[in-house]
Amino acid sequence: MTPASSDLKIEIDSAGLKRRIDELALISEAPAPVVTRVLFSEADLRGRQYVREAALSAGLTPREDAVGNIFARWVGSEPGLAAVGSGSHTDAIPNAGRYDGVVGVLGAFEALAALKRAGFRPRRSLEVVMFTAEEPTRFGLGCLGSRLMAGSISVEKAQALRDREGRSLDELRLAAGCTGSLESVRLPGGYYHSFVELHIEQGPILEQRKMPIGIVERIAGPSSYRVTLQGEGGHAGAVLMPVRHDAMLAGAEIALAVERAARSSGSPDTVGTVGVFRIEPGAVNSVPFKAYLEIDLRDAHLDSRSKALAEIRSAAEDACARRGVTMDFEEINADPPAVGDQKTIEIAERVCAELGLRSLRMVSRAYHDSLFMARVSPTTMIFIPCLNGWSHRPEEFATIEHIASGAAVLAHTMARLAV
Ligand code: GLV
Ligand code: MN
Ligand code: MN
Repeated sequence: MTPASSDLKIEIDSAGLKRRIDELALISEAPAPVVTRVLFSEADLRGRQYVREAALSAGLTPREDAVGNIFARWVGSEPGLAAVGSGSHTDAIPNAGRYDGVVGVLGAFEALAALKRAGFRPRRSLEVVMFTAEEPTRFGLGCLGSRLMAGSISVEKAQALRDREGRSLDELRLAAGCTGSLESVRLPGGYYHSFVELHIEQGPILEQRKMPIGIVERIAGPSSYRVTLQGEGGHAGAVLMPVRHDAMLAGAEIALAVERAARSSGSPDTVGTVGVFRIEPGAVNSVPFKAYLEIDLRDAHLDSRSKALAEIRSAAEDACARRGVTMDFEEINADPPAVGDQKTIEIAERVCAELGLRSLRMVSRAYHDSLFMARVSPTTMIFIPCLNGWSHRPEEFATIEHIASGAAVLAHTMARLAV
């Protein structure tokens, strides 16, 4: 007999989950405690192998699609029904920590393993996904795997992506053993009945409010842009100041315009960052003739993001005109915010109440693969606190108690969605 999920005695194996998180953290391009696993790097490939083995340990058989998304399904008693999904990513930006994404992958395996131990038998299948390249490091575009799954990027655009060394997605994925056509990555309609992603908050609110669980109602919409500036180089001693066309200084003005526009948009949710800024030739005694910037601009609401973008563009055009520098300003992505599914949110909230865990509805300011899963499935996310809200840095930390609570909420929520 299948017990109702409220009768289930879910026991998360905290020690085992912590051990697996710590083991995966050692698979990194940089020495501990730094975690760096850039898409299709040697560390990412070993991380993927770790995920396959973790799936097998949870009693699930992994399969992979053409872009390297890894799926592990517990087949329900009615396999024809849409599945309940969960998952996140294990790639990590340079100089990252061990919890971002990983908690949502290894936590979901543990949630399913705990449900098995509790004797639960799902009607709908339950599926864990490790999404390829949630982080934009290699191709400048985040959520590559989930974006393709949701059909939110054309195959042509994905095939046109190049990394800094000029390598294409096809070249890298095939070398990593991900065969098949990119067209096949797109999920058939109605594949997921619902999707719930577990993640660290990556912000300070839960910790400050002493809340063990956050339930995500909205994910801010990210956008990013690449700006290439062409000026004129020359000898740093011989080219006099009035005749310079310094590409770096035009870039510096643009970077300051990003800050100004984000701060004055009228919305506290607008954030703007120039996280990439390269100049050529990069020699102390040479005027920079070329600059390359990547701008990340986000907001929970599109109107304030659009206003900030218009201001940045106009300031950039003005700076370039004054300095005699030419500019190519290209959009990489401009994704709308995602809205969480009320029914799924209410189920997760009820689970928290029954487990005696206080919960808070919140906005995710970071993006996640759920941004794209929300386009093809009712979706929400379960957040847990992290120390000082730190993320994308080696000091990122979440207690195993909070992680285990998050995994328990995930297990119960998936169980309720699966009956
Ligand atoms: C994801 O890592 C993001 O940049 O929000
Ligand atoms: Mn991240
Ligand atoms: Mn993440």
